[in-house]
Amino acid sequence: MVKAVVLGAAGGIGQPLSLLLKANPLVTELGLYDIVNTPGVAADLSHISTPAKKALTNADIVVIPAGVPRKPGMTRDDLFKINAGIVKGLATGIATTAPKAFVLVISNPVNSTVPIVAEVFKKFGVFDPKRLFGVTTLDVVRASTFVAEILGDLSLSKSVAVPVVGGHSGVTIVPLLSQSSHPLPSSLSQDKYEALVKRVQFGGDEVVKAKDGAGSATLSMAYAGAEFAAKIIRAVNGEKGIADATGSSALASELGEKLPYFSSNVELGREGVVKVHPLGKITEAEQTLVKAAIPELTKNIETGVNFVAEAY
Ligand code: NAD
Ligand code: LMR
Repeated sequence: MVKAVVLGAAGGIGQPLSLLLKANPLVTELGLYDIVNTPGVAADLSHISTPAKKALTNADIVVIPAGVPRKPGMTRDDLFKINAGIVKGLATGIATTAPKAFVLVISNPVNSTVPIVAEVFKKFGVFDPKRLFGVTTLDVVRASTFVAEILGDLSLSKSVAVPVVGGHSGVTIVPLLSQSSHPLPSSLSQDKYEALVKRVQFGGDEVVKAKDGAGSATLSMAYAGAEFAAKIIRAVNGEKGIADATGSSALASELGEKLPYFSSNVELGREGVVKVHPLGKITEAEQTLVKAAIPELTKNIETGVNFVAEAY
């Protein structure tokens, strides 16, 4: 019995994500919330004959794709002004109605919105770092797809696994291509390697540009969000040892002394994260990427923490 709730359910991500969660047989109740058009989405989904039904409180898992998306020329940080307040308000609602829920934050800038949720939860005395996640799975999905493209076989993209660690914007996105389940061709030139890293780091810009003012990634995000949520739902359902769930766990990684939040490969259990995997063996080039990510990520985290401190 798993109750999932989507906050921002009527949006570009919210609608297809709600559809995918409705289709997950392990979800027995689905709650949908938005400031516009929620009854329409709920009525539409209610005609699909899967077990999930409408429910807004007592969630086991809450996914948050609420907030404004980017337009060309904007950075994710430009969204902070509007989205920080939206996420803070929703976090307050979760803290007071579903404090034990697993919380998956999609709203950008993720590097700052995850600390906002954590700080709000701390104010209410309900913060559990094992249950709070920033959803960075789209970076993993993109890395897998782009590596499969380079390998010349798109049918591999489901089985290619590339850890992507750090944060979710530009240089804070660190693909560990040396740990790809399917190694890159040894003939790949340095230029092509660097272009691949850049494409993973700035994949979001590709979509924003192509949508030309009509928003950012929605369908690929709904897919990625549903993949990550499905792992969490299996964990909530009692399955043990779910591995390779990459999420921006609020649990400190080996970089924890420097950074309280750092997306890592984690292992999940019923209580949340049971293990944060270390980075493992990485190349010199990857060490440089990790180093480059730290100042930006630190700044983004501080922005989120300060926002909540100033609000109380
Ligand atoms: P959208 O504008 O299509 O949908 C957002 C929805 O949020 C709207 O339906 C809106 O009414 C709703 N909303 C606004 N304030 C709300 C509130 N207080 N409570 C509940 N709902 C509220 O936008 P989108 O394309 O779905 O993107 C949503 C967010 O996800 C953006 O911030 C975007 O940058 C982010 N995003 C993150 C990733 C990621 O990888 N983490 C990927 C893509 C997009
Ligand atoms: C993405 O990576 O596609 C999202 O974070 C949306 C964006 O603004 O690029």
